[in-house]
Amino acid sequence: MPVLSSSLVRVLTLVGTLLAFLLPATSADASSPLRTHASARGKFIGAALATSPLSNETSYRNIAATEFSQVTAENAMKWDATEPSQGQFNFSGADAIVNFATQNNQQVHGHTLVWHNQTPGWVQGLSATAMRSAMQNHISQVVGRYASNATVVSWDVVNEVFDDNGNLRTSFWYNTLGQSYIADAFRAARAADSNARLCINDYNVEGINAKSTAMYNLVSSLRQQGVPVDCVGFQGHLAIQYGFPNDLQQNLQRFADLGVQVRITELDVRMQMPRDASKDATQATYYRNVVNACLNVTACAGVTIWGFTDKYSWVPDTFQGQGAALIYDENYQPKSSYNAVHDALAGGTTTDTTPPTTPGTPVAGNVTSNSAGLTWTASTDSGGSGLAGYNVYREQGATDPLGQSTTNSITLTGLSPETQYQVYVRARDGAGNLSANSPLVTFTTTAGQGGGGCTAAGTVQTQWNNGYVVQPVTVTNTGTSSMSGWTVTFTLPAGHTLTGSWNASVSVSGQTVTARNAGHNGTLAPNTGTTFGFQASRPNGNTQTPSGYTCA
Ligand code: XIL
Repeated sequence: MPVLSSSLVRVLTLVGTLLAFLLPATSADASSPLRTHASARGKFIGAALATSPLSNETSYRNIAATEFSQVTAENAMKWDATEPSQGQFNFSGADAIVNFATQNNQQVHGHTLVWHNQTPGWVQGLSATAMRSAMQNHISQVVGRYASNATVVSWDVVNEVFDDNGNLRTSFWYNTLGQSYIADAFRAARAADSNARLCINDYNVEGINAKSTAMYNLVSSLRQQGVPVDCVGFQGHLAIQYGFPNDLQQNLQRFADLGVQVRITELDVRMQMPRDASKDATQATYYRNVVNACLNVTACAGVTIWGFTDKYSWVPDTFQGQGAALIYDENYQPKSSYNAVHDALAGGTTTDTTPPTTPGTPVAGNVTSNSAGLTWTASTDSGGSGLAGYNVYREQGATDPLGQSTTNSITLTGLSPETQYQVYVRARDGAGNLSANSPLVTFTTTAGQGGGGCTAAGTVQTQWNNGYVVQPVTVTNTGTSSMSGWTVTFTLPAGHTLTGSWNASVSVSGQTVTARNAGHNGTLAPNTGTTFGFQASRPNGNTQTPSGYTCA
């Protein structure tokens, strides 16, 4: 049946062509740049760009061009750059960004028209009438310049109009013009470009809190009055030491339900310096979570990172002692956070089978009769799942690790006195891949203390704003003869109060806690141990925990 089979071929060819269009995987394979994966998911992935490295550094330009589908001028479109004196407009920096984006088929988000920072003194000193018309003129000139330029698609019309409590910020704008400046700015922007998407942008509004709720109420009320607010920008200046806003997606969704587009506009995730593998892994999780939150909210247009290389970031200049907030290091090498963004955009479908690099030779220090400290050169992980930590093994036999650590050091406890240990370290990544063994280190524990001797160490099992549980406190007989009872002491930080204990009989005097064995756990043979636990409360916001565990 030649006729039938040739039409069958045609149908199959058509199906094949349709599939090729429908399946993003054909164009976004695992090694594709971020923007390819983002486009396949219907989102943009962007970066804030600075004009000076853009014109001076090839690596900067290449990454900016190939990885991102959207750009924001980090400073070049702000008022002090575009209208430094009244009526004197300078678009050199702004045009450089827009031209770069046009060449690289990227969209530009204009940032920012009305803000209390980076606005020249001449604006701040104007009377109400003059300030309102200066604002309208500025918006009309800046937005108007790019109104027919297809590259520039959206604007931050007002930026940071709330203070940290969610009250309207008492900026010179508010103090001179009252709240009406916000609606007026949006109306002026709409008049200058009827197509651009007009956004209100702020920080500390990622989670559901007083400030984001104030923003929600303002956007809702402006839209009810017919003020053209099309979009809400969540800056996303996060820090690993402050925790992740776990209700980000829920918060984005409640704004989306108002009918506005939402976007992450200035994402970075800073850390206390120095950087280490475990902080990098946490940071990668934050980046992944932000991208996933946007992917999960249909009205989220995309994510803009506030820069891309740690070589150029506002963080070290602004937050003392903090840095390393971006997805490439200072040498333009992608960090775990790059992989996290990449894999989230790629749909998490790539499987990480690449183990971390081999840890360096461990160095032993502080060797006692039952414990030893080890430090080694950290591993790195390029497979995508990120470095998760290290396992420490004893060469002489055991399959179970002697200990585990999330950093490149550990204190091994529960060792036997006068015993030689040969140990090595393996790094593990988030997907469970283990590195090769590090070279061995050999050390010998010291003699136990004659007939007696014991040690105690406490681990915080869980903690919350104003309290914590320490469980277990391990008590170990490090001596060579049996013990019939033990006494552990430790120090509670000032203001902390013991609220309960178990498996020990506990008394408190000042800040010193004395814990004696209970009836059932006083007898300890040499090299054996027992545990007890306790709970304490502490002042709100205090992060201290007890220290100085000693055993007798
Ligand atoms: C920052 C820039 O990154 C710095 O280079 C500049 O010195 C100050 O402004 N919120 C914003 C951004 O909306 O415009 C700010 O950018 C960072 C905080």
